[in-house]
Amino acid sequence: MDFSLSEEQLMIQNAARSFAQQQCLPGVIERDEKQQFPKQQIEELADLGFLGMMTPIQYGGAGMDTISYVLAMEEISKVDASVSVCMSVNNSLVCWGLDHYGTEQQKIKYLTPLAQGKKDGSIYIGAFLLSEPEAGSDATHQHTSAVDNGDHFILNGVKNWITNGSSASVYLVMAQTDASKGPKGINAFIVEKNTPGITIGPKENKMGIRGSDTHAISFSDVVVPKENQIGADGFGFTFAMKTLNGGRIGIAAQALGIASGAYELALAYSKQRKSFGKPIYEHQAIQFKLAEMATRIQTARLLCYQSAWEKDNGLDYTLSAAMAKLHASDTAMWVTTEAVQVHGGYGFVKEFHVERLMRDAKITQIYEGTSEIQKMVIGRSITR
Ligand code: CAA
Repeated sequence: MDFSLSEEQLMIQNAARSFAQQQCLPGVIERDEKQQFPKQQIEELADLGFLGMMTPIQYGGAGMDTISYVLAMEEISKVDASVSVCMSVNNSLVCWGLDHYGTEQQKIKYLTPLAQGKKDGSIYIGAFLLSEPEAGSDATHQHTSAVDNGDHFILNGVKNWITNGSSASVYLVMAQTDASKGPKGINAFIVEKNTPGITIGPKENKMGIRGSDTHAISFSDVVVPKENQIGADGFGFTFAMKTLNGGRIGIAAQALGIASGAYELALAYSKQRKSFGKPIYEHQAIQFKLAEMATRIQTARLLCYQSAWEKDNGLDYTLSAAMAKLHASDTAMWVTTEAVQVHGGYGFVKEFHVERLMRDAKITQIYEGTSEIQKMVIGRSITR
């Protein structure tokens, strides 16, 4: 067993760290406050090749492994989780899904600019439309319909909580083509955002990741050409689940980054802040908190690496991805709360970053499958 990172992986980690410190840190508090989409940062991510990290070079990607993706996600999430969620959705849910299940024509037309993150000089990213007002955790009960109408489908319905909802150019939409078949009657479609009949709702006013643009999206008689269906008839739910398995590694790495960002801030503060005549890290009450933070973060990191390694080696990573997401997101919530505590009153104000990290941590226990769904996936897997 080898725990060392390759030279290339270390290079990616360093590049992501510099990007986070130089491009994301300035203005992160204001972007959060104003709910401002990090457009400039996303453009720079595209230039770095971080929007299609695992996509083969021939389709506009960087052709890297999943470990490199985890490393980059951790570094960027330490500073700005609104940037990293956009990156995660485009990489794991959109590009990976198209790369593995798209046709050659779909890969040339859509995957290539999506992995490059740009088309004709403008941002070109994607979104993943599975959740609905009445189908969140219970994702098999899709109400959005896709009716076969000769050479095209007609989509009607509403999707919600869509990350990149207004900034994406391409949507991957799950819809029910035959309700009598249940999950086997669901299909996945590539839908261009500017197709007539699509309405984007207002930006959600969120507790955390406030810079990312989250919207409800409605479809009213939206015409989707048959060549935009992904995979064979009835493959849509399996497509969503298989894609989400990888997405969960990305969100686990995001949670890991939020936790390690908060830990690093708490550690630095504990060395600088004095009470009762010594730096506070010398008090056992604080040192035990730091020790437990470091330990929980390292276990989350190892789970992320294991799952990424399994994915890169062609093994089934459903279980490890669910475990990584469950543990890393709980770690993020616990560590950020403790980091605020270490900062005392300063942790409760915006200038010190940890309060934002604590707010950002919460969503990692909810999206791409709640912690309860991860326990279902783990429970089913270990009892099978
Ligand atoms: N990997 C591969 N296949 C899976 C799977 C997985 N993780 N989970 C389920 N499946 C397959 C099952 O094997 C089954 O296939 P077969 O019929 O061929 O055996 C099929 O999918 C249906 O599964 P179940 O019978 O287990 O259905 P269920 O309703 O009992 O449970 C569920 C399904 C696991 C709860 C699923 O609905 C689920 O994962 N829900 C959570 C949805 C989710 O993660 N949403 C996130 C939204 S996207 C998002 O957040 C993106 C963003 O913008 C940030």
